[in-house]
Amino acid sequence: LEEKDAAETARCPHAASRAHGLDSIPGPTNWPLVGSLVELLRKGGLTRQHEALVDYHKKFGKIFRMKLGSFESVHIGAPCLLEALYRKEGNYPQRLEIKPWKAYRDLRDEAYGLLILEGKDWQRVRSAFQQKLMKPTEVVKLDGKINEVLVDFVGRIGKINVSGKIEDLYFELNKWSFETICLVLYDKRFGLLQEKVNEEAMNFITAVKTMMSTFGMMMVTPVELHKSLNTKTWQDHTAAWDRIFSTAKVYIDKKLKRNAVRAPDDLIGDILHHSCLSKKELYAAITELQIGGVETTANSMLWAIFNLSRNPGAQRKLLEEIREVVPPDQDPCGEHIKSMPYLKACLKESMRLSPSVPFTSRTLDKDTVLGDYAIPKGTVLMINSHALGSNEEYFGDGKQFKPERWLRENSTINPFAHVPFGIGKRMCIGRRLAELQLQLAMCWLVRDYEIVATDNEPLDVIHSGLLVPNRELPVAFIRR
Ligand code: HEM
Repeated sequence: LEEKDAAETARCPHAASRAHGLDSIPGPTNWPLVGSLVELLRKGGLTRQHEALVDYHKKFGKIFRMKLGSFESVHIGAPCLLEALYRKEGNYPQRLEIKPWKAYRDLRDEAYGLLILEGKDWQRVRSAFQQKLMKPTEVVKLDGKINEVLVDFVGRIGKINVSGKIEDLYFELNKWSFETICLVLYDKRFGLLQEKVNEEAMNFITAVKTMMSTFGMMMVTPVELHKSLNTKTWQDHTAAWDRIFSTAKVYIDKKLKRNAVRAPDDLIGDILHHSCLSKKELYAAITELQIGGVETTANSMLWAIFNLSRNPGAQRKLLEEIREVVPPDQDPCGEHIKSMPYLKACLKESMRLSPSVPFTSRTLDKDTVLGDYAIPKGTVLMINSHALGSNEEYFGDGKQFKPERWLRENSTINPFAHVPFGIGKRMCIGRRLAELQLQLAMCWLVRDYEIVATDNEPLDVIHSGLLVPNRELPVAFIRR
């Protein structure tokens, strides 16, 4: 959150004069060995954990403590607690370790990227990328690249739809975001939106998918065991990373050789040339930017499409704004977005109502008082943006898609109640890029197509790392 926003926020009304210990934090029954795992399974299992966590916040309040097997965490779902955490954050905030990724890098003597680095090394790599990637005036220069891919994406939607329906829209969106991030990072078009996708591109995207689908298991069972038994999960995971790294290295090397004179929109080229990072560090950092940027962006776009399909009034208003700001003979660009408050409000509202990443985490690096509780160093905190966004206390009429709530003058929305990209120094470094990419995509799509709902049945959401719909989106794209 920006300092300005944070300063405007009310003080936590629950800040205690004498804080209680960790043991007094309420939570579901903690049975020997299993903790609350059985209860969570009874509530629908891990794929329904986002709903169970909302229930627990309703039952226990702004903060609760939970143990799943041997893994203990403290869940915070109140803006005042997030603000307290933000204000007390040290120089090197940490998230929960992703041990399987670290195990692969250690095995192959590769470096860590931003998703898994810690301490001073994290800060060094972060600051190499921060200036370019978090500055709106820099990121806006990427609109040409984003649009190059959007031309193909919108063209493809025109070609492959059958009476407006797109088969496996989520896969199409993943290819779109993959193609965009690769163009930004490597200056390379993979051709994923062509009719016949080339083999190299397909292998790359499959490797990322395999890597993502194999690490979850090794987060809940010891990765050392998988490694020593050489389980299929471990083999598939390492083979996938091998392919990801070997492909990424080829394109990073090409970029390093090529870029004596760089185009103004070559943010990554500038970083590669000006940073003091080693080649090994660059390989890992760029690869992790790619991993962080693909499905998150595709997923947010999927939900934006869904929310617009179910809210034709908002879609009409958005179309009016697009037509007012973007002349018919021009492509939407970064400059136009600056004068489109309703578009920005639609994206914010979609990310509130249907967040992609339900929560992020922090491992406390010092004893920290949050609200009524003194929480010891080493505790894992879960920051639940999904629970915040669906809490009526912070968002009245919260089940409704109401972009207007973000527009009202003197809006009373607490900035710490909306944290889809996390908070503080460790917040998503791709945030600005993702926002621009999503806003432009919404402009292109809504200008050319009416997005209509093909049914009005409720859509079940499941947790599979990100929050995804449990069936094909009931939407159709009707050419305007
Ligand atoms: C971290 C969400 C797009 C790269 C994060 C975090 C969240 C998040 C919640 C954790 C932040 C925290 O712990 O406070 C999203 C969403 C996106 C998106 C919802 C799309 C709508 C991107 C893109 C990139 C990216 C496009 C790459 C350009 C990263 C990286 C980190 C991160 C590298 C780790 C940052 C660090 O620890 O220093 N993202 N992200 N993300 N994201 Fe994103």
